[in-house]
Amino acid sequence: MKRQILTVLSAAALLASANVATAAGDAAAGKAKTAMCAGCHGVKGISMAPINPNLAGQKALYLATQLKAFRSGDRKNATMNPMAKGLSDADIANIAAYYSSLK
Ligand code: HEC
Repeated sequence: MKRQILTVLSAAALLASANVATAAGDAAAGKAKTAMCAGCHGVKGISMAPINPNLAGQKALYLATQLKAFRSGDRKNATMNPMAKGLSDADIANIAAYYSSLK
């Protein structure tokens, strides 16, 4: 009985850590999704044009929250609303991980 409980607990711990990994995002997968972002936000997340914000080094949670707000329309911007429309939750987590990993 004790052993069964331990097995269940360690399975739950494994699942929980897998969820954390997903929420944190995969920076390499995120990078692959940023080709269309680079024109405005820079290849390394540092924008060349004063109207476009830098994304490099920004907090991942903030980036993900903003992208979800652009996607839902809660944050309105004529450029970013259509950009975020096609992104899945996983894409957003990965992109956020990528930009936050840049200096
Ligand atoms: C045509 C130019 C353009 C492209 C392409 C573009 N963006 Fe943006 N992005 C902007 C502008 C301009 C803003 C500022 C919006 C505002 O003022 O609310 C912005 C804002 C953002 C923000 C919020 C930054 C902050 O500090 O709040 C994020 C995150 C972001 N963009 C991510 C992306 C991602 C990811 C892509 C690619 C999928 C992308 N952008 C493509 C122009 C662009």
